[in-house]
Amino acid sequence: MSGPKGARGRRFEGALDPIAAQMNASIDFDQRLLPHDVAGSIAHAEMLAARGLITAADATAIVEGLRKVEAKLTAGELPWDAALEDVHMNVEARLIDDIGDAGRRLHTGRSRNDQVATDLRLYARAAAHEIIEAIDDLRRAFLAQARAHVETLMPGYTHFQRAQPVRLAHHLLAYDAMLERDRGRITDAAKRADLSPLGSGALAGTTLPIDREHVANALGFAGVTRNSLDAVGDRDFAIELVGACAMLQLHLSRLGEELVLWTSQELGFVRIGEAYCSGSSLMPQKMNPDLAELLRAKAGRSVGAWVTLVTVVKGLPLAYNKDLQETQEPLYDAVDTALTTLAVAKGIVASLVFDTGKLRTAIDTGYLVATELADYLVTKGVPFREAHDVAGHLVRIASKGGIELAALTIEELQAAHPLFEADVASWLDPARAVDRRDLPGGPARTRVLAEIDRISTELGVQPPAP
Ligand code: ARG
Repeated sequence: MSGPKGARGRRFEGALDPIAAQMNASIDFDQRLLPHDVAGSIAHAEMLAARGLITAADATAIVEGLRKVEAKLTAGELPWDAALEDVHMNVEARLIDDIGDAGRRLHTGRSRNDQVATDLRLYARAAAHEIIEAIDDLRRAFLAQARAHVETLMPGYTHFQRAQPVRLAHHLLAYDAMLERDRGRITDAAKRADLSPLGSGALAGTTLPIDREHVANALGFAGVTRNSLDAVGDRDFAIELVGACAMLQLHLSRLGEELVLWTSQELGFVRIGEAYCSGSSLMPQKMNPDLAELLRAKAGRSVGAWVTLVTVVKGLPLAYNKDLQETQEPLYDAVDTALTTLAVAKGIVASLVFDTGKLRTAIDTGYLVATELADYLVTKGVPFREAHDVAGHLVRIASKGGIELAALTIEELQAAHPLFEADVASWLDPARAVDRRDLPGGPARTRVLAEIDRISTELGVQPPAP
């Protein structure tokens, strides 16, 4: 380009101070916007030609030139030049090097402010769709395990104390419920990103007769942004996407934590496939759940990214401020983290081998069926508070005697409440206790099977051949 390198033009005589240039440049991270930047420029150039602002021949030269520059930069045949500051100036300067004057017409009616907002929206939209695919892949892994473990009973916990028996499938599908919400939030963030800011110019649009809808259509945007000042200063779509990613990471961190607990020798409920475990450099016997621990830890990164974003945008005056450049790295980091952790979580979940015997045995101690005694009395007309009290009293007697509730005699039960009869024994069978919880959202067999069917349909998974 003529004059000083980069966007400063002949207003300036000298170059930027070297360290200032380093701090100012975004090329190290915004080069990932290359495909979006080129797509945006192609749509812009074609619109300029359609409106007679440049000739058709210039538009053709620009489009072909941009494709070549993109290919060369992608292949590493052209180096990124930090002196050119960012992806936008790198692409434009190389285009001008290649095609000359036609290239100098590309930036007609456009600013880097609406350009970067466009690139980031395109990036956010594409990233959201990738994350959604990865979420569904993980959901399919949970679904396959749930199918295999409809009949596996395990203790459900509250306060990490054994509480009531559930089906393992029901526990696994709790993660599907979380992931389905994450999917919804990411989809929603993508929708909000799906508007074209091009035409907003630096802040106040342009005097030139451009066609914003034309560009929006070409880029597959659902429409155009409504206010030029807002459009160049808005990063809500990034904050929303990262917020949704942070929430997703919270869920993956809960999965990581449960896997760490479940794989411990103390519980031994499950083994993680070797492909997802590490050894110890010192203790030869160790098989550590490092990847589950990292699933747990990565939430910190994404929550941090969200905090960075909101802190950068907070208090900015309207329209573009260079601060907004600092919204890029947290966005990329949260997206990368989501994609990596989702892929690893999927692999881990698919690799899990449950010790169904241990899960079942864990139900038999800890009075998990105490609630059944109370519910039994309720069906005989006893007020719940009184029934709860009687059941609590029976737990106390049993624990004093070092026995489980099922080992209490009918006489002992009747001494606690005269309405107990012999049929109470069946209430203390954990499998029946689970199946009596036959209500929407409950762990009963039929409910879990129906939920598996619903999720299978949603994810387009065929039921396995009988
Ligand atoms: N690299 C810049 C960013 O990411 C591009 C926009 C620069 N605009 C400007 N007026 N300096 O925000």
